[in-house]
Amino acid sequence: MSADWPAIRFIVNGESRAVRVPAMKRLLDVLREDLRLTGTKEGCGEGECGSCSVRMNGELVNSCLVPVLQAEGAEIETVEGLSSNGALHPLQQAFLECGGAQCGICTPGMLMAATHLLARNPHPSLAEIREGLAGNLCRCTGFIRIFESVIAAAGSTRGHRGPADHAR
Ligand code: FES
Ligand code: FES
Repeated sequence: MSADWPAIRFIVNGESRAVRVPAMKRLLDVLREDLRLTGTKEGCGEGECGSCSVRMNGELVNSCLVPVLQAEGAEIETVEGLSSNGALHPLQQAFLECGGAQCGICTPGMLMAATHLLARNPHPSLAEIREGLAGNLCRCTGFIRIFESVIAAAGSTRGHRGPADHAR
């Protein structure tokens, strides 16, 4: 941490973290560059593709649009927080088994959007999955395998909640 900036503190995947960076630095860059959490990806950098999706205080946000100052005191959940004790989250397992990930650029954002959807609606219909993932773009899969992955995971995610949900 540089001493030039006041500390900004928040919780990432259940761990207290502090960074000294410019207040307007993007949360996406803080996660990737300062905290070395490179699972979160940059696609468009303009809030259009959802590749950079993380959960902040239980809401899905595009981290490319969030100045880190806005995350002060927040609870943030990234794709790195999905697995536990070395075991993949049911969504990660389903994406693996159903071919929901190809090049992988959209995958962390898709996983976070799907996590957010299933946290609110454990058994979504196909229409609800389409709507829940509408902010996330994929150039490889044609989306069907992603939707199938979420459907496959929906039966096994009961009781599997992310750090932000455990805080409630
Ligand atoms: S990189 Fe953030 S929405 Fe595309
Ligand atoms: S798997 Fe390549 S963009 Fe979705």
